[in-house]
Amino acid sequence: MKIQAPKGTKDVLPEESYIWQYVEDRFKNICRLYGYNEVRFPTFEYTELFQRGVGDTTDIVQKEMYTFLDKGGRSITLRPEGTASVARLFIEHGFASRPMPQRFYYIISAFRYENTQGGRFREFHQFGIENFGAKFPITDAQVISLAYNFFTSLGLDTIKVNINSIGCPVCRGDYLKSLKEYFSDHKESLCATCIQRLEKNPMRILDCKEEGCKLIAKDAPKPIDYLCDECKGHFEMLRSYLDVTRIPYMVDPYIVRGLDYYTKTVFEIVDEVLDKELAICGGGRYDNLIEQIGGEAIPGIGFAIGVERLIMLLSQKGLLPQTEKNPQVFIAALGETALKKSILIAAMLRNQGISTVMEELSRSLKSQMKYADKLGCEYVLIIGDDEIEKGVCRLKNMKTSSEKITNLDEVVKSIQAGF
Ligand code: HAM
Repeated sequence: MKIQAPKGTKDVLPEESYIWQYVEDRFKNICRLYGYNEVRFPTFEYTELFQRGVGDTTDIVQKEMYTFLDKGGRSITLRPEGTASVARLFIEHGFASRPMPQRFYYIISAFRYENTQGGRFREFHQFGIENFGAKFPITDAQVISLAYNFFTSLGLDTIKVNINSIGCPVCRGDYLKSLKEYFSDHKESLCATCIQRLEKNPMRILDCKEEGCKLIAKDAPKPIDYLCDECKGHFEMLRSYLDVTRIPYMVDPYIVRGLDYYTKTVFEIVDEVLDKELAICGGGRYDNLIEQIGGEAIPGIGFAIGVERLIMLLSQKGLLPQTEKNPQVFIAALGETALKKSILIAAMLRNQGISTVMEELSRSLKSQMKYADKLGCEYVLIIGDDEIEKGVCRLKNMKTSSEKITNLDEVVKSIQAGF
């Protein structure tokens, strides 16, 4: 049997990798503009981090984690997301004693054992940011603004920003009580998992994917109707800042997000991907996470963008850059002496920043020209014994098909001048 890549994973081929580099560069650039610095952290962590951070009753922790015992008998999990790891990194490296807020961004792969339809992968990639130490709504607005400007700078003008507030531990108590009462009245129509959720974490019923549960959840009490004064004020201020920033948004009272660490603001940015409305970005505030995993009481907020979904959306809308990066010059060498000369010429061109490949298969000139054409090179530099003797080469512009004999010392100048 042929060995294939595991279900839910994807190879990125040379003809696509420039697209990944393009979106990565754009993300790094917007992060720089907003003062965020990159962090890198391990692909795997001790399982306990996600149990305590993401939450024991979430789908991610209950069903979707890639967890195994290592050879030392420790329970290890491939990261299903980045926030818990960045929070762990923040505590471990004593960032609490540095000036606040601290701003981080990351580009990661993440792993969730999910159904693989509809824009879901088992290994996927995220662009994320996390901001620590800022509790006021101006930070929420700046975080949403970064995401919004990233998408619009890529030409995405149909995205929708949906926001909500799910309150804090103070208002959550009353809300959970009402939610539990409501769902208890409809217990017979809930799926088996949701019946368990009813006891442990009724908010999780709101994002159950079973049709029956979805139908009941539609009329469930909304967290926004139970906000305490502080949370209500926070949300109103956030809305006023978004208005100043001219970010169009909708309040979607049923966004609760699938991770347990959120408090107050939650948001999703959605668009039609593969004929379905999909979240290309999800985030929110998590004022208790750092404390929950053993640090000080330091608030945080952030988001993560699904890179596969982003690229699908850009491609669907014809917003991808058109060209991959081809080598600019191909050196067609005829014979061993020419080959040796081409080693030196290639080095000289590369030193001048001109990307260059050379013939490595001793083919006929015709085959070499065909290959250079397929590679999409702008120029072919042809050298044979004759040319070497005279210290020249033939330079061919592949777009115009014009050719000229040029002194070897002049090649760089000719190319830079756009012959
Ligand atoms: P999340 O909503 O679980 O949030 O994931 C963020 C984004 O990652 C989603 O909106 C989606 O685009 C993408 N995504 C999630 N799962 C998959 C999958 N199986 N296949 C493809 N794409 C996927 C978080 O991960 C939070 N850590 C975000 C955050 C950061 N909140 C605060 N800071």
